[in-house]
Amino acid sequence: MEELLRASVRSEFSFVTETSRHLVDAGGKRFRPIVVLLSAQFADPHAAGVVPAAVAIELTHLSTLYHDDVMDEAPRRRGAASANARWTNTVAILTGDYLFARASDITADLGPDATRILARTIATLCEGQIRETVGPAAGQDPVAHYLRVVTEKTASLIATSGRLGAMLAGADPITVDTLASFGELFGVAFQLSDDIIDVASDPADSGKTPGTDLREGIPTLPVLYALQSDDRAANRLRDLITSDFAAGGGNPEEGVAEAIDLLRGHEGLARARRELVGWSSRARECLAPLPDNAAKAALQSLTDFVIDRTG
Ligand code: IPE
Ligand code: IPE
Ligand code: MG
Ligand code: MG
Repeated sequence: MEELLRASVRSEFSFVTETSRHLVDAGGKRFRPIVVLLSAQFADPHAAGVVPAAVAIELTHLSTLYHDDVMDEAPRRRGAASANARWTNTVAILTGDYLFARASDITADLGPDATRILARTIATLCEGQIRETVGPAAGQDPVAHYLRVVTEKTASLIATSGRLGAMLAGADPITVDTLASFGELFGVAFQLSDDIIDVASDPADSGKTPGTDLREGIPTLPVLYALQSDDRAANRLRDLITSDFAAGGGNPEEGVAEAIDLLRGHEGLARARRELVGWSSRARECLAPLPDNAAKAALQSLTDFVIDRTG
């Protein structure tokens, strides 16, 4: 998978190879390929399409990271400068498009079904990113909006990782659906853990700049829960957010730091963690009908990992 991934981002134009390899080489957890490869273990893991599918999905994911960091004006990714920070937004956007094209080149060999599934997933993912940008409609419950966004922007691609891994390995339709459902539940848990880490963790662990979503005015679950209370910390948090972090007269970076501090001590964060545990448990339960084997144990351990990484 790693070999094919690196080979697929080689361009005749060396600058494009450099911008494309930037995040491939910076690391990343390779979660989605892991889900593809583990899902394939429930049928024939050596089937020809399995590794290319894992590569196409990681390329698609990479492409969305290049675009997401432009949207979020994020300076860091995978412990390195983001492509937009290192070069420009234009370079980051076009490199993201280039990676999408490389992914499509690979999926073309996987047949029309896999190509269509991935195309629809990308459409859903984009809808989620746009829905997040637009925000909830007047009168819409912000938590329901948030969960829909997370399902679309993140869980969709992880569900497809499970689906394509099992499908291309030749698994029966019930097994394919089970692994897709697992991916969707696990994907929501995964994004919740990412959002908890955004406020709770050390940047040395996440490789990203804390509070990026907050700074961009995107309220994640810990923030939404905190804003539902009306204690002093919640009121201060509301003031900071509505004033674009200028409340208190300090510079906005100090305002963001104060908001992160308030969130870390707030019950809203603990509640978001409980929500994460719920999604992770549902993902684990969904695996029950599958045969007990090493791949199932590995998928179960991923459901523990998403919880452990937030603590
Ligand atoms: C980051 O995904 C974007 C989200 C959907 C949370 P990952 O946390 O899987 O990023 P990498 O691939 O490990 O860098
Ligand atoms: C990322 O969401 C979702 C996609 C890349 C599709 P976020 O913006 O919350 O993820 P990070 O925290 O930047 O990785
Ligand atoms: Mg982001
Ligand atoms: Mg984002």
